[in-house]
Amino acid sequence: MYFLDEKVRNLHRIFDQNARRGYLRLDLNENPGGLPQELIDKAFDGVITPEFVAQYPETLHFTEVLAKHLGTDISHVCLTNGSSEAIRYVIEAFTSDNGRIVGVVPSYFMFQIYSEMYGKNIVQVPYRDDLSMYVEDIIAELTEDTELLILLNPNNPMGNVYTREEFEQIMTVAREKEITVLVDEAYHYFYPETFLDYALNEEHVFVTRTFSKAFSMAGCRLGYVIGWPEGIAMVQKLCTPHNTNAFAMQMAETILETPGAIEGLIERFSKGRSYLIDALDEHGYKYQGQAGNFLFIQPKTDAHTIVARMKEEKKILIKVYPDVGHLGTCLRVTIGEKQYMEQFLNALLELDRL
Ligand SMILES: Cc1ncc(COP(=O)(O)O)c(C=O)c1O
Repeated sequence: MYFLDEKVRNLHRIFDQNARRGYLRLDLNENPGGLPQELIDKAFDGVITPEFVAQYPETLHFTEVLAKHLGTDISHVCLTNGSSEAIRYVIEAFTSDNGRIVGVVPSYFMFQIYSEMYGKNIVQVPYRDDLSMYVEDIIAELTEDTELLILLNPNNPMGNVYTREEFEQIMTVAREKEITVLVDEAYHYFYPETFLDYALNEEHVFVTRTFSKAFSMAGCRLGYVIGWPEGIAMVQKLCTPHNTNAFAMQMAETILETPGAIEGLIERFSKGRSYLIDALDEHGYKYQGQAGNFLFIQPKTDAHTIVARMKEEKKILIKVYPDVGHLGTCLRVTIGEKQYMEQFLNALLELDRL
């Protein structure tokens, strides 16, 4: 008898990563300029031999390098094919059928997708109109039957962050009600505050991170999840064999082991961010969310028209976001090096005229 899972049939997926070649890509929070070529050459020159390509990837060495970088050992770390894969496995393993998951909205859309994929019940806590997320709104949803709480620090797309006090308040309730907490730190390094210490020191807290954003390696697909050893072992059981590829680990190791490489990436990004923010202030724009590598900008004219014209006339990809609290429909723009921000700003000033 043929069978198709209704959950899969009803799942609505958007695959928006294609047909982007030739455009300035400020729509998916990648680094538009990418890594310095010298770093790529350093990673791969003389390394890519027939054996390197032919062999299944070995993960132990890179996991050790990464664990050392994080100040821990390998029992706390599981490598994944991008952090979205780590998120998927945590949802799969740590919630029951129709299990209650609490998350904030708007947020990274894959939380919703994975929850629907596995038949979970995701309850979303909305932002207030001033675009702040109140801890009491989250805590109000942490019922006895909640199994997983998902927080993003900083959040994509709102760019808000949680203070240590706020996080501790949430954790107090989560511990009491035995709720697993997943903190998505995809935008770590752009924003240095972290809750990694919770994931390293207590049970039922996971932190996921990625090499796609600050490390500028989205094309390589590499992420990881940090947690307590038993929790990590459960996530590992779900991984497809050889889910992290040798090229990605080689590139990531080179970045981690090259003194000043991460700092250099962040410095170039920060200059782009300062330039864009100063220019937006100067031209009277309202914007929100600078903790990650993206910004919401309230346009002066119609956001949909600007996004369409940016693409057609300026070959720049950005996103439109409806209902961004009091800012209304906004543009979401990835922040990159100054030259790209200049290109974007010039286009914005030309197209967004009353
Ligand atoms: C908040 C957040 N988490 C996770 C991801 C997934 O990143 P990746 O699967 O490339 O590691 C993204 C990607 O945009 C994101 O914005």
